Amino acid sequence: MTSKRLTHAVDEPSSLSRRRLLKGAAIGGSGLLFGKAIAAQTSDQPQPTRSTDTTQSIPFYGEHQAGITTPAQRHVYFMVLKLDNTDRQAVIKLFKEWTRQAALLTQGKNIGPYSNNHFIPPADTGEADSLHAYNLSLTFGVSPSFLEKLGLQDKAPAEFKPLPHFPRDQLQAQYTGGDICIQSCADDPQVAFHAIRQLVRHARTSMVSMLWAQNGFNAYNDVSQTPRNLFAFKDGTANALTLKDAEKYIWVDDKNWLQGGSYMVVRRIQMHLETWDRTSYGEQENTFGRDKLSGAPMGQQHEFEPIDTGLKESNGDPVMPVDSHVHLAHRTGQQLLRRSYSYTGGINTLTSQYDAGLLFISFQKSPQQFITIQNAFGKIDKMNEYITHVGSGLFACFPGVKEGDYLGQALLEG
Ligand code: HEM
Repeated sequence: MTSKRLTHAVDEPSSLSRRRLLKGAAIGGSGLLFGKAIAAQTSDQPQPTRSTDTTQSIPFYGEHQAGITTPAQRHVYFMVLKLDNTDRQAVIKLFKEWTRQAALLTQGKNIGPYSNNHFIPPADTGEADSLHAYNLSLTFGVSPSFLEKLGLQDKAPAEFKPLPHFPRDQLQAQYTGGDICIQSCADDPQVAFHAIRQLVRHARTSMVSMLWAQNGFNAYNDVSQTPRNLFAFKDGTANALTLKDAEKYIWVDDKNWLQGGSYMVVRRIQMHLETWDRTSYGEQENTFGRDKLSGAPMGQQHEFEPIDTGLKESNGDPVMPVDSHVHLAHRTGQQLLRRSYSYTGGINTLTSQYDAGLLFISFQKSPQQFITIQNAFGKIDKMNEYITHVGSGLFACFPGVKEGDYLGQALLEG
């Protein structure tokens, strides 16, 4: 039964690598990919929003963590953990180990070589053996409760506190809260899952327990397309995507442990597909304020034309409904980086409806950007009829890690 693994171990006894096929060429790191893409363009042009070459690897080390401005890969596996051990030295040890593992995993390597001792479990679970790195990125964040548990609450910036209750929130405990999040994105779902599995496997024996997780996907043919969400609208058109945007809207610029990091909001939003599918085409477009096919803002022809909420019909009515999702968001003047994924999770057997929706993920310099927009939607967003927010989290994603340092070092040691 073990002969297959045995052969494998003997074939590649000292290698951490499952990369015999890997091209090896990294396409850039956290921010680097973003930066590279930008080199040939001016800094305020929209950047590609997703991976172009699915086989490549993204460096783990860099100024910012990967998985934020990194073009969105096709798959996410998102994990939220509870911190069970509040001894700071033990947490430092864990974060050092996660740094080591993440640096290997993102390069398409296993976290340890297979042993020749066949009486112990393999160091790496192995389901990514012979797969490429698939642009894997691992992004780590902690919540206000993490700081409290470690007695570090004095280090929490004033705005770093649990999100307020929003109108129509129906948050469920099983998708809300938690102390640590790990966002694993890759162009292959098994690679994304494998990475989380390794990171959690040993940690969960004494340090953390799993609270909730969600996998998700987005679909596109090539980099020039904006993926469609499960309401079939292009999602991600008006996004904070340029380098200038990143400085202005995404990276924290306070002289503290979070400098160069970003706040992440995650919301598990159930989409009521059955209700949506009974809605007329015209009303669907009124809900978003955009053309369903082209993605153009109402009153315009093309997806990326500027939004003009002041345009009027001949009878004086606004061209873009004032309660449409885009009108309401646009009017706040706020921006954030949306990096969401659709999910489908089987069916709700009580209602006999799909359990499907959007794992909404946004990155911002301040949680207030999200709060302002979500409050603007309030009770009036036309889309409210078709969605329910069932899960929520706010996490501070650390700045990038320098080689030799470890994740969260400035917080844990500073
Ligand atoms: C299931 C839930 C949601 C769906 C299906 C959805 C879908 C969309 C779509 C189709 C657009 C227009 C295309 C685009 O610019 O990307 C859009 C725009 C936008 N959405 Fe959402 N969205 C959802 C939730 C949210 C939430 C929770 C927020 C933040 C609080 C948000 C913030 C925005 C912003 C800022 C824009 C751009 C507005 C502008 O043009 O200035 N969305 N969304």
